[in-house]
Amino acid sequence: APSAPAALRGHIVTFRGNPFLMPPQDALVDEPDGLVIIAGGRITHAGAYDATIAHLPPGTTVTDYRGCLISAGFVDTHVHYPQLPMIAAYGEQLLEWLERYTFPTESRFGDEAYATTIARKFLGELLRCGTTTAAVYCTVHPQSVDAFFGESTRLGTLMVAGKVLMDRNAPDYLRDTAQSGYDDSRRLIERWHGRNRQHYAVTPRFAPTSTPEQLELAAALLKGDDTLFMQTHLAENRAEVAWVAELFPDSRSYLDVYDRAGLVRPRSVMGHGIHIDEHDMCRCHESGCALAHCPTSNLFLGSGAFRLFDAMDARRPVRTGLGTDVGGGTSLSHLQTMNEAYKIAQMTGKRLHPVQAFWLATQGGAQALHLDDRIGTVAAGMDADLCILDPNATPLQALRAQMCDSTADVLFTLMMLGDDRSIRATWVGGRLAHDRDSGGTTGM
Ligand code: GUN
Ligand code: ZN
Repeated sequence: APSAPAALRGHIVTFRGNPFLMPPQDALVDEPDGLVIIAGGRITHAGAYDATIAHLPPGTTVTDYRGCLISAGFVDTHVHYPQLPMIAAYGEQLLEWLERYTFPTESRFGDEAYATTIARKFLGELLRCGTTTAAVYCTVHPQSVDAFFGESTRLGTLMVAGKVLMDRNAPDYLRDTAQSGYDDSRRLIERWHGRNRQHYAVTPRFAPTSTPEQLELAAALLKGDDTLFMQTHLAENRAEVAWVAELFPDSRSYLDVYDRAGLVRPRSVMGHGIHIDEHDMCRCHESGCALAHCPTSNLFLGSGAFRLFDAMDARRPVRTGLGTDVGGGTSLSHLQTMNEAYKIAQMTGKRLHPVQAFWLATQGGAQALHLDDRIGTVAAGMDADLCILDPNATPLQALRAQMCDSTADVLFTLMMLGDDRSIRATWVGGRLAHDRDSGGTTGM
């Protein structure tokens, strides 16, 4: 059923452009007393309260979020829902971490009831963090995908997800074959892609766990349908990069392994991309594929420092979003993710402006997924996926907020000090999906 008309009053913060390519203040749309009117799951009007109130359909209740910011819902461009139970696993870097923690955890998702339980908890956590869209890895089991999309359909969230393809260098209980992976993916695409707000991503885990044959069949799945997504991992860790060079001696680079298979295209999302060169950056720029910057994961697993400002170089900007990469990442909160992105930028001698950080978490992520015509911006015509941010969520934050003299500073304190407590509410498709103060995520 379509959602009832609704309206939200608060401080609207959204973007009219890319703040890496223009002065951040010019990219910011800042409406301190704003009104957002919603009907049929879409935003019909957004602007100054005084100028917009005339458009309010008679009888519509205005939810009062004055004192809070109204932002587009966050977009997480890289995350693994089955790894939620093993978040914060001690001690290892990528390849050992996969063997010791990840593969055993993922082995349980052949059980659809278990998968459904975790998918429900995962989506509930995302909404508690203000994230309304994510590009999500399931496991090798088709049931893990049915469970995820089933729960997302129930909530009405716009999600991108797919079955992991993995036909070598993994325990036998987690391996498919090139052919079975193709057949299972085909069926899942037919079942879920384009249904409600669900989108399918062909998901080869990463080059070391797929044979060249499997990568070619992944590309065959994408052929003829440019609405399909592709997601994988790229150049996250130095030992992984060396392994890929051994496994694919004919390829010029790690990215080139995917490129030769036909997987570097618009709506392809590469997780990490830390250890790549200028040639690869240019190739990402011209192909329309995207990079997912995953700062909490890169620090937690000791993977390295992503060169964000190099990726955003105005001469050949690469579509870039933020990813939490849970369970390699340590938080589903994009506020925490921005916090660590700021610190990684500091380590590389760069200054990540809060307007740039919030752009990455919303409109930039939407552009990375080629979904910016639907999500990532608070404006008429966009889907009503919104996140309400409270700059006064804790006593300390309320104290610090008194020192703020600009919207940019309010955003900066939110990204440095904020977490799930800062999310006053989350709206999905024009419906209230999470309300912090009434203690719950609706429909959970
Ligand atoms: N590379 C291959 N698989 C994974 C994974 O599950 N997480 C991360 N962070 N990197 C990977
Ligand atoms: Zn990952």
